[in-house]
Amino acid sequence: MSDQKGRREALSASIETYLDLIGEAEAVIAGKPYTKEEWDLSTILDVLAPPPLDLDSIDGANLRVLEAMVASCSKCRLCEGRTMTVFGEGSAPARVMVIGEGPGYEEDKSGRPFVGKAGEYLESWLKSIHLDRMQGVYIANIVKCRPPNNRDPQTDEREACMPYLLRQIQLVKPQLILLLGRTAAQTLLNTEQGVGALRGRYHRWQGIPVVVTYHPAAVLRNTAELRRPVWEDLKRVAAYLGIELGR
Ligand code: URA
Repeated sequence: MSDQKGRREALSASIETYLDLIGEAEAVIAGKPYTKEEWDLSTILDVLAPPPLDLDSIDGANLRVLEAMVASCSKCRLCEGRTMTVFGEGSAPARVMVIGEGPGYEEDKSGRPFVGKAGEYLESWLKSIHLDRMQGVYIANIVKCRPPNNRDPQTDEREACMPYLLRQIQLVKPQLILLLGRTAAQTLLNTEQGVGALRGRYHRWQGIPVVVTYHPAAVLRNTAELRRPVWEDLKRVAAYLGIELGR
């Protein structure tokens, strides 16, 4: 028997004894016979003595192991057309974790996130708030394989990839998450609302502050209208992180 299993069983027995004693005492006070109860102690045991982690599972993986799991993933049809998986890269822990939609042509070829035109533009956004993709920033996507012809990743594809991203966020421990575009925002925040409705305020995801903004590729297509709101969103990121931007 593993140490942790033995500890859980001993703890469970002690708690049961304690609860029985209380039950018996209450029965005596009430002048009623005591009937032994069945207790479900799994929740309290999970807190006091968490079950051992399965190191072969996503929940037990570190970033290196998780990346290897993604590299051999065939959980959805996107694996059929990929050249390379695009796991994500950057600093962990990170000040900011940037999450986009999914790899495009350049990313699929190189295995790195945001290295095409949209990536260059994203880098300029980060620079504008004194951040650098090589320092304090981690960049990932909702799906790790390129959807054919850059179409939106479908619901089942996003769902299949989500456990990887959730573990990745846990491991990267960002101070703030920046979601780029509709797919990233709707998937992580589990909403049908568009970027226009979601941007302009802080959200929270499992306690981590989240800022939503437009996808750089969308801004490149419509700079006149979207550049200013993106700048406002970036200032919100900087404000949270205590980055002084000057005037
Ligand atoms: N667009 C994305 O959403 N992600 C990338 O990695 C590249 C382009």
